[in-house]
Amino acid sequence: EPNGLKDYYHSYFPMGVAVRPSDLKDETAEFLLKNFNSITAENAMKMQPLHPRENFYYWRDADSIVNFGVNHGIKVRGHALCWHEQAPDWMFKDANGELASKDLLLQRLKDHIFTVVKRYKGKIYAWDVVNEAIDDNPDNFLRNSLWYQICGEDFIAKAFEYAHEADPQAKLFYNDYNVVRPEKRERVYRLLKKLVDAKVPIHGVGLQGHWSIYEPSEAELKTAIEQFSSLGLDVQITELDVSIYPWEKERRAKRPEEDGVFTADLQNRQTEQYAKIFKVFRQNKKVLTGVTFWNLSDRYTWLDHYPVQGRKNYPLLFDQDFKPKKAFWEVVNF
Ligand code: XIL
Repeated sequence: EPNGLKDYYHSYFPMGVAVRPSDLKDETAEFLLKNFNSITAENAMKMQPLHPRENFYYWRDADSIVNFGVNHGIKVRGHALCWHEQAPDWMFKDANGELASKDLLLQRLKDHIFTVVKRYKGKIYAWDVVNEAIDDNPDNFLRNSLWYQICGEDFIAKAFEYAHEADPQAKLFYNDYNVVRPEKRERVYRLLKKLVDAKVPIHGVGLQGHWSIYEPSEAELKTAIEQFSSLGLDVQITELDVSIYPWEKERRAKRPEEDGVFTADLQNRQTEQYAKIFKVFRQNKKVLTGVTFWNLSDRYTWLDHYPVQGRKNYPLLFDQDFKPKKAFWEVVNF
């Protein structure tokens, strides 16, 4: 008798969720363990929270998440070793406050990756090594981040090499958003192919999956999974949520009157969208080795604050009381 979300997908893929340390106690922990068998730190393993000053690491939150996973026998995914956001300022500056040299920055990246990956060796089975390196503008290839400005393209392959040296067993992922959209998909593919052809130790691609009731289409999702897996890479959905707002327009638009209300119509459209994407996931179970939701339930989601502050969103399978939504029943009914 299936009981929680993970049980329905037992023969498909692990069902993961992004967590904060405060999620790991009382009823929330119980709810988590009933429905999920993989966890990711929502923020605790990013460079800034973990390594805020040179030669100083703050381990408590990251350790509590890893220990919870190990103690309960569930998988732990690491997120993220090299990213342009939530990276500390000191990382990119030399002793004189000038922009760090390429040698210095790569040395620091290596120290960071060695320290973190070795600490959790054998406990974290997969790492997002490089996050969001492709630019949003389709006319550009790589994002013009400080990593890129200082190191050029090299930082990407180096990050994977360092991580592989630190834990040769860990599965190493490139992770990004909007990669199901054709113009970004092609550029991500180009990057991945380059890495694979150069024999860089990369094992998978993470599609973040910050989607909405408007996208992706079934065909686009299918094409993306097939194209990436044709490179011999695992595919994982690493940060799944289905926003009730369109991503692009809402960044610019003023808040409409009905913002914050989860109408029956929105609920139905979200249910259909979840049903559709999970159908494609199931059809691709050979190459899809994990699905992770970005937060536990509609009680708290990062989309309440992003991209618009203070606009309530309802992007997950469980409601604000941790009860299964209509979308949940559609996802487990197949
Ligand atoms: C988000 C967290 O959920 C927020 O709490 C934080 O304020 C910003 O980062 N892509 C990623 C994740 O790779 O790390 C981001 O997480 C969401 C977008």
